Amino acid sequence: MSIDAISGARTTSSSANRLVAEEDASLVAAAKARDARAFELLVKRHERKIFSMAHRITRNREDAEDVVQQSFHKAFIHLKRFEGKSLFHTWLTRIAINEALMLLRRNRGLQEVPIKESSTKPEGALPLDFLDSAPNPEASCLDREQEQILSAALNKLRPGVRKAIELRELGELSTRETALVMGLSVAAVKGRVFHGRRKLREILSQSPKASKSERPQMSSHVRILGIAGSLRCGSYNQGALRAAKLLVPENSEIDLFQLDDIPMFNEDDEKRPPSSVVELKKRIRRADALLIVTPEYHYSIPGVLKNALDWACRPYGDSAWSGKAAAIMGASLGAIGTARAQYHLRQILVALNLFTLNQPEVVIANAAHRFDENGNLIHEPTKQLIRELLKNLVDWTRRISPALAREARS
Ligand SMILES: Cc1cc2nc3c(=O)[nH]c(=O)nc-3n(C[C@H](O)[C@H](O)[C@H](O)COP(=O)(O)O)c2cc1C
Repeated sequence: MSIDAISGARTTSSSANRLVAEEDASLVAAAKARDARAFELLVKRHERKIFSMAHRITRNREDAEDVVQQSFHKAFIHLKRFEGKSLFHTWLTRIAINEALMLLRRNRGLQEVPIKESSTKPEGALPLDFLDSAPNPEASCLDREQEQILSAALNKLRPGVRKAIELRELGELSTRETALVMGLSVAAVKGRVFHGRRKLREILSQSPKASKSERPQMSSHVRILGIAGSLRCGSYNQGALRAAKLLVPENSEIDLFQLDDIPMFNEDDEKRPPSSVVELKKRIRRADALLIVTPEYHYSIPGVLKNALDWACRPYGDSAWSGKAAAIMGASLGAIGTARAQYHLRQILVALNLFTLNQPEVVIANAAHRFDENGNLIHEPTKQLIRELLKNLVDWTRRISPALAREARS
């Protein structure tokens, strides 16, 4: 079968499965004979399926894209070793699942939390299902906490059992697919999954009742990411943000993010965003709350700020903002401060599903009199108001984030 015929053919109906396998085999043979176009075609034919499988395991678009890239890279390097005893797709899926699991483990390593195993009997089965990423802050924080608990519990399982559970429960593969990937019989997979689920229930049933030292060490420390919507040297809004950094309550901190390197948003690029946007999203995700400081441009927020808000919520379904607590403030030269811009900002934050604090409203009017010539805030009553805003933001974040709130109470 010629490569041209394959590249032009459509293989959509289920009866075409055999044809797909034959075409894959021809492409593999051609790719082994150093036909670069043949390997490109293999990538084109399989990347969507591999991506969605990787996404099911990693639950993160950027991680899934990394997995796809790594998997094809490995497949290319090791193609000579592929003997065609299984379908190319099965072989590739096996590589991709391993890549995805390795990535999950690496990520887990970063957020590992110790749970002491207890020898007491379970008091009832806990569901193993975990919520999907949730639209509200309580649920999304519960997700995070549950993920950490599950991650720690998984690490208590024997490697063979853990892999079976990861593939069935997290990777959502069927028993047959799991057996194929692990090179085991279906019965053996069923046994491992049964044993693994029982063991997980046992471990998980201990965690809600565990003493403080046995519970995951959730810090009550609140991490706030501060973003100001001005690129100007000597910006009053940057100055207000710098002041806020020094006025945060105990057990909280403000990390600053500068928007200078964020290019103009273009929907064509949203699936392969520039590194500055990847970094912005990472920093938002790492934060418990946001402090957005906006100038007022023609009664609204500046384009640079709107641009960053748009970037970090794209592509659809992969917003970094959703469910976070937020506070806003702003400084302008005029007498109305940034009141009009702040109300526009509030409206935008509703669309981004941020949970914005209502009070106090920090509207810094007549900025030229409240900042010195270096753009540093010198007006004591304004500092006091910012202090109050930050205290309320930290309380609000703990209130809407159960894990943080519980730790703060204990
Ligand atoms: C394009 C533009 C539009 C502006 N529109 C307003 C406005 O609607 N209301 C206002 O109070 N100030 C307005 N200003 C003045 C800003 O408040 C002032 O430039 C302020 O210093 C900007 O914030 P920054 O110091 O953080 O850069 C505008 C400034 C620019 C450049």
